[in-house]
Amino acid sequence: MINIPDLQTELAGKNPRTILRKALESFDNIAISFSGAEDVVLIDMAFAIRQDIQVFSLDTGRLHPETYRYVEKVRKHYGIDIELLTPDRDALDSFVKQKGLFSFYEDGHSECCGIRKVEPLRRKLAQVDAWITGQRKDQSVDTRSDIPEVQLDTAFSTDDHPLIKFNPLLNWKSAQVWDHIEAYQVPYNELHQHGFISIGCEPCTRPVLPNQHERAGRWWWEDATKKECGLHAGNLKN
Ligand code: ADX
Ligand code: SF4
Repeated sequence: MINIPDLQTELAGKNPRTILRKALESFDNIAISFSGAEDVVLIDMAFAIRQDIQVFSLDTGRLHPETYRYVEKVRKHYGIDIELLTPDRDALDSFVKQKGLFSFYEDGHSECCGIRKVEPLRRKLAQVDAWITGQRKDQSVDTRSDIPEVQLDTAFSTDDHPLIKFNPLLNWKSAQVWDHIEAYQVPYNELHQHGFISIGCEPCTRPVLPNQHERAGRWWWEDATKKECGLHAGNLKN
């Protein structure tokens, strides 16, 4: 079993490539969680280190058409498999039958995200030893400013299956991500050309105005301290 405090000490403040290299060297069964927004940079860097990278994306059924086209573009660009994880059919059917398609505007996003994102993610994470996310500290002062380079994922570990989580881009600002995309001609979601910055599901994402915070366009009807959908539940403070 890897010693996380030692690994964290080794990786603290290191650049994304160094963190990624260490993650990919330390774990064979490790997957990149790709959201169809700007964290394609993770795929770009990881692919240069190791071509057999495992990539998955949560297909909630509510993504923008542009995002689906973009996932396909990335798949072809790198010649990689991208696993699309879908919600449990029975749970989704009964949720939609009971509460319709837009209940999150009335009683919050957690139930819908729980079925469309968190449960499929839990299923996937039970099959890997570690995962890599594109979270950045500056995405949210309320929920992400304390994330480390590497951590035990307390939200998805179980007693007999500890799960390690790497956040290689944590110290990067959005401008550095976009600099990489431009410099290395990395494909990006066409929605970014229409004022979208942080992109999730279509009904829960909207473009932001100049100088508005990037996450202002996500679940805009909710309090900033609750703007985690459960993927990164460990970030939420009690
Ligand atoms: S979210 O929790 O608010 O939706 P955000 O969009 O900021 O997350 O993305 C942070 C990281 O979570 C991404 O870089 C990615 O690693 C992961 N992530 C978010 N949405 C998805 C998704 N639909 N599929 C796979 N990974 C995702
Ligand atoms: Fe449902 Fe919105 Fe969450 Fe997508 S982001 S799973 S549509 S509540």
